[in-house]
Amino acid sequence: MANADLMDKLVSLTKRRGYVFQSSEIYGGTGSVWDYGPLGVELKRNIKDRWWSAMVHQRDDIEGLDAAILMHPRVWEASGHVEGFTDPLVECTSCHRRFRADLPEIEAGQCPTCGTRDSFTEPRMFNLMFKTFMGPVEDSSATVYIRPETAQGIYVNFLNVQGAARQKVPFGIAQIGKAFRNEITPGNFIFRTREFEQAEMQFFVKPGDDEEWFERWMEIRMQWHVDLGIDESKLRFHAHGSDELAHYAKHAYDIEYEFPFGWKEFEGIHNRTDFDLVRHQEYSGKRLEYIDAPTNERFVPYVVETSMGVDRTMLVVLADAYREEEVEGEARVVLGLSPSLAPIKVAVFPLVKKDGMPETAERLSAALRAASIPSFYDQSGAIGRRYRRQDEIGTPWCVTVDGQTGEDGTVTVRDRDSLEQVRVGVDHVVAWIREHLA
Ligand code: GAP
Repeated sequence: MANADLMDKLVSLTKRRGYVFQSSEIYGGTGSVWDYGPLGVELKRNIKDRWWSAMVHQRDDIEGLDAAILMHPRVWEASGHVEGFTDPLVECTSCHRRFRADLPEIEAGQCPTCGTRDSFTEPRMFNLMFKTFMGPVEDSSATVYIRPETAQGIYVNFLNVQGAARQKVPFGIAQIGKAFRNEITPGNFIFRTREFEQAEMQFFVKPGDDEEWFERWMEIRMQWHVDLGIDESKLRFHAHGSDELAHYAKHAYDIEYEFPFGWKEFEGIHNRTDFDLVRHQEYSGKRLEYIDAPTNERFVPYVVETSMGVDRTMLVVLADAYREEEVEGEARVVLGLSPSLAPIKVAVFPLVKKDGMPETAERLSAALRAASIPSFYDQSGAIGRRYRRQDEIGTPWCVTVDGQTGEDGTVTVRDRDSLEQVRVGVDHVVAWIREHLA
C-alpha cells in the first residue's frame, strides 16, 4: 500500500468509525486541531493509563502532578520561551501564505501552495506561544501565555512535591496535560497540531549522575513503546546535532517512528541540566535547591526529561496497527491493536435473532458491562459483516451465541488475528476475557 494511501485510509476510517473528527467540521474545520470520538477517546485514555501505570504506579520514585495550563507570565521568561521559542517564518509575496522557512520546498525556492519561485519575504522569527489576557483588562500587564509544554508546571512545583511526598533525589514528577503551540505549518493529521497532549516526566538527579540516568531513561522509554506492540523495525533513536538542540538541552535523543510520511519524532529524551531550575531561581528569587539529608550537601538538581506526545503516539499506534488482508476469499481491514489498547475488548453477537439467542447475548453483555469490560452488542446483519466491522476498529474478540449455546451453555470466542474460534462456557466469558487481557 502506498504511504499516502495509508494516511488517507486512516483519516477516513478513523472519522467513519468515531476515532477522530476534524474540529468544528460543520464550519469547514480548522485543519490544525482534532476531536476524539467515542473510540478515539478510549484509545487515547488507554495509552495515557499505560503511561501513568508505568511511570507512576509501578515505581516508588516518581510522583504525579496536574499543574494549571495558565501560569505566571514570568515562568515563560525564565524558561526562555518568550525569547527563544520561535520558528523562522516566510511569506509568499504571490499568494500570501506563510510557511516555516526550513521546509524543504521553501529551501528549494518554490511556494508549496502556488508554485511561484523565489517569491519569499526575508525570514522573521515567529514566537509559537499563544497569548491571552487574564482578568477583564486587555493590556500588556494582563498578558498570559497558554503553556507550550507541561514541563514548567513541574519545575515550579519541584520543592512542593519533593517536600510533600518526602522524596529523595533521584526522583521524578510526571504529568499528562494539554499544550498549545501556534505552529506555522501544522499538518499530517494528528501529527502536528496547535492543541495537543503531552505525557512528560522530569527526573531530578544529582549533577554528575545525569548522563547515566539519561541512558537509563532512553532504554526504559524505548522498551515501553515496544511493549505497546509497536513494530520494532519502525522505531529508532535520533541524536540531536548541535543545530537541533532546544535552548534548554545539553543532550537530546528523539524516539522516531517510520510514519507513512517518513521517520519522525514522537518522544524526546532531554538532558535539561539545571537550566530550568536555575533560571526559575533567578527570576523568582526563591531557592530551588535540594538538601541531601545525611551530608547536608546543597545542590540544584539536573533534570532528565522524557516527553511523549500523546496524539503522536496515538498516530503511531493506529498507523502500526492498520493492515489489509484477504481471508476466506474476502478482503478485510484490521486494526491489530494490542488488546490492552483496543477501545472495545469484546463484541457480543446472537447468531440469529430467535431461539433465545438475543436474550442470552444481552445477558452476557450486561455481565461484561458490570465487570467494566468495554463491549459492544450487535445483532444486525450477517455474522461475517459483524466480524468485519469489529476487525476494522480493532476489537480483539467476538463472542457469538449460537444454536449450541442452548444445548451445552457454551459460546464461540473468535480471535481477531488468528480467526480461531474456541468454545467457552457463557458464564466463564468474563473471566476468560479478564485472563486474556492481563
Ligand atoms: N518539554 C519538552 C518538549 O516539549 P518537544 O520535543 O518540543 O519537547 C515533545 O515536544 C513531544 O510533544 C514531541 O515529541 C511530540 O510528540 C509532541 N509535540 C510537540 N509539538 C507538537 C505538535 N505541534 N503537535 C503534536 N504533538 C506535538
